[in-house]
Amino acid sequence: MSTTTCFLPVLIAGVLLLLLAHGCSSRLATGDREALVAIRKGWGNPRSLATWDPAVAADPCSWYGVTCSDTSNGEGESVVTGLSLGSMSFSGTVPAAVCDLKNLTQLDISFNNLSGVFPAVLYGCSQLRYLDLSHNSFDGALPDDISRLPSMLEHLDLSSNNFDGTIPAAVAAFPVLKHLLLNNNRFTGTYPAVEISKLTGLESLGLAYNAFAPGPMPQAFAKLTKLTSLWMPNMNLTGEIPEAFSSLTELTDIDLSFNELTGTIPAWVWQHKKLKSLQMYRSGLNGKLPRNITAVNLVEIHMSSNQLKGEMPDDFGKLNKLTFLSISNNQLTGAIPISIGLLPKLIYIDLSNNNLSGELPPELGMHSPILHIDVSNNSLSGPLPRMLCANGLLSQLVAFHNNFSGTLPMNLGDCVQLKTLLLYNNSFSGEFPV
Ligand SMILES: *[C@@H]1O[C@H](CO)[C@@H](O)[C@H](O)[C@H]1NC(C)=O
Ligand SMILES: *[C@@H]1O[C@H](CO)[C@@H](O)[C@H](O)[C@H]1NC(C)=O
Ligand SMILES: *[C@@H]1O[C@H](CO)[C@@H](O)[C@H](O)[C@H]1NC(C)=O
Ligand SMILES: *[C@@H]1O[C@H](CO)[C@@H](O)[C@H](O)[C@H]1NC(C)=O
Ligand SMILES: *[C@@H]1O[C@H](CO)[C@@H](O)[C@H](O)[C@H]1NC(C)=O
Ligand SMILES: *[C@@H]1O[C@H](CO)[C@@H](O)[C@H](O)[C@H]1NC(C)=O
Ligand SMILES: *[C@@H]1O[C@H](CO)[C@@H](O)[C@H](O)[C@H]1NC(C)=O
Ligand SMILES: *[C@@H]1O[C@H](CO)[C@@H](O)[C@H](O)[C@H]1NC(C)=O
Repeated sequence: MSTTTCFLPVLIAGVLLLLLAHGCSSRLATGDREALVAIRKGWGNPRSLATWDPAVAADPCSWYGVTCSDTSNGEGESVVTGLSLGSMSFSGTVPAAVCDLKNLTQLDISFNNLSGVFPAVLYGCSQLRYLDLSHNSFDGALPDDISRLPSMLEHLDLSSNNFDGTIPAAVAAFPVLKHLLLNNNRFTGTYPAVEISKLTGLESLGLAYNAFAPGPMPQAFAKLTKLTSLWMPNMNLTGEIPEAFSSLTELTDIDLSFNELTGTIPAWVWQHKKLKSLQMYRSGLNGKLPRNITAVNLVEIHMSSNQLKGEMPDDFGKLNKLTFLSISNNQLTGAIPISIGLLPKLIYIDLSNNNLSGELPPELGMHSPILHIDVSNNSLSGPLPRMLCANGLLSQLVAFHNNFSGTLPMNLGDCVQLKTLLLYNNSFSGEFPV
């Protein structure tokens, strides 16, 4: 009995010591520590990796851009799972030591000055799920064996490099891919639309700004029903926007600007409830704007430089989140709906170079802080709204080549941010605000 009572405190102290020792030993696996040092060396010990030094911080998991696992392996060691090394001024290529980090799942080396062909050393990173090589200077054609990247890849961002040639079907060899960004390169020919359309988990697709051969928007993309972002400006699209894309109900952003499309804007574009940004600037579209708009979450509408006709719909006044409305350089006629003056978030309006008539909505500027309004070169008349500058933030007021009349609002004089005021060729009268 007495032995037990005497032994118990010793036992408790022993357990505490063990716990403490275990806590202290959540150290990085030796192989990973060596790999990090080799990576730093591979990039020429750049100043941006100065913190990657045991003398600065003993624990490599606290080094800049290094993420380690929460859980440790059997030997009480943690492992490196992520490297976030964007904008580190790296040049050269990707050091092979990167894939000595056996548990690396995430690699972001965007916004550096990396060059050369696609870094095949990455095929050795067997756990990689997230790869961002965007905004570098990689060039050459993408290799056909790019499918040797891990099959569970979810994020592949090769955008804003100088890759050229045709895009191999192998970029779509990753069945659980969610983000495929190939935009802003020098790709030519056709892209593997059929293979891409099988990536049914895809949430964002970027093909924009490549010199593809002219061709229509692939009907098959209608299968990509999880897409939230479809980025296809400046890639030689022809033909009509497919009706079948009405299946893309998760879309929040669509950009088809700078293409050679034909036909009208299909009804679904104005009905998808999740759409926030609609960019169809200089796309070749024509036809009338619809009466019935139910895409009430729209924040930006950019449809300048098309051949849109007919009147602006009253339903624009339902878009309570709209901040940006640009439909300049079209052939719109009729009056600007009064409801637009009631929108609470509208800050940028460009309706120039149409043939709009009637008066500006009298409450424009009363309910939202307008920064920029351009209605030049229309057939508008009547007075300027009195409260355009109610919030004192108006920076551009451009209304030349119309037939506005009456006196200028005296409070324009309080418009301390005003940088551009162009009112010539109208029928204004009275005094110019001092
Ligand atoms: C690291 O990867 C190895 C081999 O794939 C695996 O056995 C181990 O469980 C991983 N460790 C952690 C902490 O994920
Ligand atoms: C980028 O790398 C190239 C060589 O590949 C070099 O000539 C150039 O100066 C580098 N630019 C910057 C900003 O480091
Ligand atoms: C469109 O295609 C034509 C013919 O292939 C090509 O010359 C042109 O550069 C392409 N334009 C763009 C913007 O990619
Ligand atoms: C407007 O469109 C919605 C959604 O497509 C539809 O339910 C509604 O009936 C339409 N309203 C009119 C007036 O056409
Ligand atoms: C006015 O708009 C018409 C088309 O609506 C265009 O042809 C003309 O060049 C524009 N004038 C100016 C001065 O911008
Ligand atoms: C603009 O509309 C007015 C009627 O509001 C019409 O008289 C005029 O011809 C139209 N101008 C052009 C260039 O279409
Ligand atoms: C004044 O504006 C009207 C309407 O846009 C336009 O038709 C006319 O040519 C303009 N006059 C001058 C002198 O620029
Ligand atoms: C401009 O408006 C005035 C009335 O404010 C009208 O008398 C005149 O005819 C209009 N000019 C044009 C070209 O429509």
